[in-house]
Amino acid sequence: MIIIKTPEEIEIIREGGKRLATVLYKVKDIVKPGISTKELDTYALKLIREMGDEPAFLNYKPDMQSTAYPATICISVNEEVVHGIPKKDKILKEGDIVSLDLGLKHKNLFTDMAITVPVGEISNSSKKLLEVTEKSLKIGIEAAQNGNKIGDIGHAIEKFVRPYRYGIVEILAGHGVGRAIHEDPYIPNFGKAGTGATLQKGMIIAIEPMVNAGTKNVTLEKDNWTFRTADHKRSAHFEHTILITEKGPEILTILE
Ligand code: MF3
Ligand code: CO
Repeated sequence: MIIIKTPEEIEIIREGGKRLATVLYKVKDIVKPGISTKELDTYALKLIREMGDEPAFLNYKPDMQSTAYPATICISVNEEVVHGIPKKDKILKEGDIVSLDLGLKHKNLFTDMAITVPVGEISNSSKKLLEVTEKSLKIGIEAAQNGNKIGDIGHAIEKFVRPYRYGIVEILAGHGVGRAIHEDPYIPNFGKAGTGATLQKGMIIAIEPMVNAGTKNVTLEKDNWTFRTADHKRSAHFEHTILITEKGPEILTILE
């Protein structure tokens, strides 16, 4: 069931989104060669707790999952697509690209956001992958108009990405968010225009294209969390939490 949020909930989620973006950009600012993914995770947890909020992913257990997620951020490097677990011995190096995916619980309501950032100087092909993936999120958000269908979002993303011959990950998707980290509807990053549920004002959704430099195929690591590309080429991921309004989509995970 798709939940329409109340004006009171929307106000709280708007504040949560600002806080989440603030934390995520602060974490981005300390990304540099030599830092471990665990250090980034510890820093994020500290910032969130200082604001009086809670990390949304820590100890979160989706239904299909056998274990709870053990960290604050999902940190996925290079050929890792999503849900990488931070580790002391996972050290970032010049030229890497790193996806930082963070969820926040503010006054019992959830927001979700991800960015992929360069570590030092990166290759032109990696820059292109980041640019196209971030732009595909913008295009997906533009399609999230009151009265449009869920399928319009994936269709717009797919149409934009196709000419670059990248692989759009199909087995993971965006989702409703707010009272829980994952709610209906399920929002694929590909699909047919005019299909699926209707977007209505008051819905809050997370749109999150995952785009691979090579094929769309991904595999799950032995840790049962980390998805990586099957061909070991790089992958990028951007995500915003947005509100559907009569005047168009409003990005909630954004600095004021
Ligand atoms: N943004 C991620 C997603 O929607 C959040 C994963 S939460 C985790 O898939 F705890 F499962 F990692
Ligand atoms: Co998400």
